Amino acid sequence: MQETSLTSPNDTTPDYDSIDFFTDQSLVPDPYPYFDHLRAQCPVLKVGPYGVVAVTGHEEASVVYKDPAIFSSAIAVGGPFPPLPFTPEGDDITEQLEAHRAGMPMSEHMVTMDPPQHARARSLLNRLLTPKRLKENEEFMWRLADATIDEFIGKGHCEFLTEYAGPFSMLVIADLLGVPDEDRETFRDVLATPREGMRVGALDHEPLAHNPLAWLDDKFAHYLQERRDVPRDDVLTGLAGAKYPEGDTPEIDDVVKSATFLFAAGQHTTTKLLGSTMRVFAEQPDVVDALRADRSRIPNFVEEMLRMESPVKSAFRLALKSTKIGDVDIPAGTTVMLCPGGLNRDPRRFENPHELQIDRPNVREHLAFGRGAHSCPGGPLARVEGRVTVERILDRLTDIRLSEDKHGPAGAREFSYEPTFILRGLTEIHIEFAARPAATAQ
Ligand code: HEM
Repeated sequence: MQETSLTSPNDTTPDYDSIDFFTDQSLVPDPYPYFDHLRAQCPVLKVGPYGVVAVTGHEEASVVYKDPAIFSSAIAVGGPFPPLPFTPEGDDITEQLEAHRAGMPMSEHMVTMDPPQHARARSLLNRLLTPKRLKENEEFMWRLADATIDEFIGKGHCEFLTEYAGPFSMLVIADLLGVPDEDRETFRDVLATPREGMRVGALDHEPLAHNPLAWLDDKFAHYLQERRDVPRDDVLTGLAGAKYPEGDTPEIDDVVKSATFLFAAGQHTTTKLLGSTMRVFAEQPDVVDALRADRSRIPNFVEEMLRMESPVKSAFRLALKSTKIGDVDIPAGTTVMLCPGGLNRDPRRFENPHELQIDRPNVREHLAFGRGAHSCPGGPLARVEGRVTVERILDRLTDIRLSEDKHGPAGAREFSYEPTFILRGLTEIHIEFAARPAATAQ
């Protein structure tokens, strides 16, 4: 196993009031009691040493997500790291932010943009996420799921993240963007292997690289320039010809940023969703049986996985103006942390929130994809990735169980989760299984 961060049931409860959410490893394996603790005091609460206000209430967070005029996304990914390049002054810091925005991490990507620039950047994606493209992409997913399972099914065991979830979610985005077939292996080599510089912030305060996607940027700049010079009948040509809603043609660089950010935003998040789904399958065979008996329950089950194990653990906003969230005063310049793992287990919204209920009626109210202007444009895609994967796993594998060598015996299992405050997901999950006979598959 890689470095593990484990708590055993005998661990004493940490002192949540003084704990540093951003650095304390003990919160990594199971952050949910911490979110409950915060919410029990107040769903909008100042925490830790960096003056961050944590929102763990569903209703309160929805208000923040939907008000980009007050709550800027400029610090959406890194939150308090690095600190703001200026000291907020007064009740309105809009001008201060604008003076420094260009030098802030990830400022070239839509996730950190505010209106009206954000709407322009996002409009380029609409050119890509058309119903036709998504349909073709789903057809590709079914073939890809089978081909990826073919690579390991004969062994009777696999490490599901590196052998399935990682390459699957990366190649789905490559297909969506029209990466030529001959380049896909290179993408798999470069992107499905974790590398320095591809990480988006960790507990050790590693500062965000200003542009962690340099390799992809070069690759796409080259593709798109080529397509502008010599158009072909392919997806990249469509992207290269995309225009802003006002009719003007974007710089190549702006199209590149919209395209390449999809890998950063869509690959690891979906991998984590598939990983937690596999953990449920390996630990709860009754869930596998229930879904196999009635496949129409699969979409709701995927939503419940998004709710229970939201891959994005924190998203941040910067209060531009002094305001209130609920009854709590928020001075201009406050870093607000929205915690989907907490919002999605708010008992005021979800009954028995810590219980996996595959038929939970209001599950789609979860905030795993955020809300408002920045809500995840890849949500529909991730949902299909989840459904296709579950369908194919049910078709082709049976008797799915955890590897005792890697995760320990029943009753003393060990799991390792990504040591970051930004994402929630296993670092590895080793399973064993039997292949289903071809006659029963499908
Ligand atoms: C289970 C998988 C996924 C989860 C949980 C997820 C979650 C999120 C969340 C919470 C946000 C909003 C961040 C904020 O409000 O600051 C977001 C934004 C975004 N996601 Fe996803 N995402 C997933 C998959 C994908 C996929 C597959 C793609 C693309 C193919 C994608 C592309 C994006 C982009 C481009 C943004 C930025 C949107 C904007 O700022 O307007 N995501 N995602």
